[in-house]
Amino acid sequence: MDIKTAIYTGSYPRYDLCPEAKLPEFAFIGRSNVGKSSLINMISGRKGLAHVSKTPGKTQAINFYLMDETWYLVDLPGYGYARTGRKTRAGWSRMIADYLQHRPTLQCAFVLIDVNVPPKSNDKEFTDWLGENGIPFVLVYTKIDRISKTKLGQNLEPIRNTFLESWNELPREFFTSSEKKIGRDEILEFIQEVNASI
Ligand code: GTP
Ligand code: MG
Repeated sequence: MDIKTAIYTGSYPRYDLCPEAKLPEFAFIGRSNVGKSSLINMISGRKGLAHVSKTPGKTQAINFYLMDETWYLVDLPGYGYARTGRKTRAGWSRMIADYLQHRPTLQCAFVLIDVNVPPKSNDKEFTDWLGENGIPFVLVYTKIDRISKTKLGQNLEPIRNTFLESWNELPREFFTSSEKKIGRDEILEFIQEVNASI
């Protein structure tokens, strides 16, 4: 699937200031530096659309990107990075929690997990919280270009096991590399399926 137009529509400090909730949207969320903004650029096919940085905490507000004038990709600030402002129990901001709980057009949260590092407790706390709040989500493993197939398998096991402590089955999983453009078709196909089912 080709994306013909990709437009940055704005950056919003609160969910109730976001664009009118009229079109389906898909939010990218995960620990700081996991690769959310890079993935938005890879999926949209526009290199400089979202701001990428080696310094964690680059994305600070809720950023909207309009695709083909019909659906949004939403880039959220990362969690697990000390910032000012009110925090919920595991360190993601009130802004993120409010957005996820109150946005009627949110179809699915893409929870990004870096497969190069061992499972982190805040990822588990965050996905548990999504479950408690009935927010649909899928898992997106990032930066798979940095790891061998064998190591990937080894690293996935504890990540999946941690997850299965809370859930009976794994949600849908995507394997991605923004660097090597891996996983784009699968994610776009998924988005297309969801959009077609609305
Ligand atoms: P915050 O906005 O700070 O929460 O970070 P983010 O999750 O948006 O991460 P961002 O896309 O800014 O990327 C963080 C760093 O990881 C940058 O140095 C990227 O170049 C690097 N990175 C992102 N995706 C990949 C990938 O697929 N492969 C590799 N090797 N590096 C990546
Ligand atoms: Mg970012």
